Amino acid sequence: MKITVIGAGNVGATAALRIAEKQLAREVVLIDIVEGIPQGKALDMYESGPVALFDTMVRGSNDYADSSDSDIVLITAGLARKPGMSREDLLMKNTAIIKDVTTQVMKYSSNPILIMVSNPLDVMTFVAHTVSGLKPERVIGMAGVLDTARFRSFIAEALNVSMQDINAFVLGGHGDSMVPVVKYTNVAGIPLTELLPMETINSIVERTKNGGIEIVNHLKTGSAFYAPAASAVEMIESIVKDRKRILPCTTCLGGQYGINNVFCGVPVKLGKEGVEQILEINLADNELKALQASAAIVEKNCKSLASAI
Ligand code: LAC
Repeated sequence: MKITVIGAGNVGATAALRIAEKQLAREVVLIDIVEGIPQGKALDMYESGPVALFDTMVRGSNDYADSSDSDIVLITAGLARKPGMSREDLLMKNTAIIKDVTTQVMKYSSNPILIMVSNPLDVMTFVAHTVSGLKPERVIGMAGVLDTARFRSFIAEALNVSMQDINAFVLGGHGDSMVPVVKYTNVAGIPLTELLPMETINSIVERTKNGGIEIVNHLKTGSAFYAPAASAVEMIESIVKDRKRILPCTTCLGGQYGINNVFCGVPVKLGKEGVEQILEINLADNELKALQASAAIVEKNCKSLASAI
């Protein structure tokens, strides 16, 4: 198993280290355009192996040839948000970056699984899919796992219970239009609505939707990376170990939820082939409408790029 991480910034470097520490691959290659950064960070990670107890080879490079024959490529390259910016503000600049990165990746790996992290997430997943020519089930966006992790952590805090027992789903695009699905959220099987008043649940839903900007406003110079990296690695683990976990991920819908040919976050089964199944769950009318509205925003942004890709 060889995993390449494109982008040696905060998300890429954190993800590469987690992949190595979990020994999800024999070899991790960290690639960035900035000379020295991927080499230095990768060597530093590799040297932590004897203490952190892993044998994964971690290498850094500025040359995409070093990504050759990767099984999985995690794409984190691109600009991150600063305070006052929406994810959509990154659209044109990150489209150019993702187009270039995907072209380079595909020169050296014939059939990788691409995991996308760059924003605006759903649109960048569409761009990578279009440019790569890969089957749609092999180009997957990381957002639902992150948004759900935020939702779960806030619920655990409100109830003072283990995060592990919180099951939840956040669907839709990775943006203000995301849809935390309260109906399918439970704590060890107990519906959330039996444990918290609606007013508290609504404020957790709002905080979840604004989870990304809450971190940007603290950091000021960039956006979140620990939770995004952990979320991408959870997806990678399910693929590498063929665990077939059901996780909310951005995938190309083919009529499910009344949405056709648009990349959007829904529950999927993740295994060695990538997205092996899209699960269509019953949503309340208002949730379905919110999901469709979220997909419509992604579709509009994708269409606006027609001449750019
Ligand atoms: C966030 C950014 C990474 O949600 O989109 O934190």
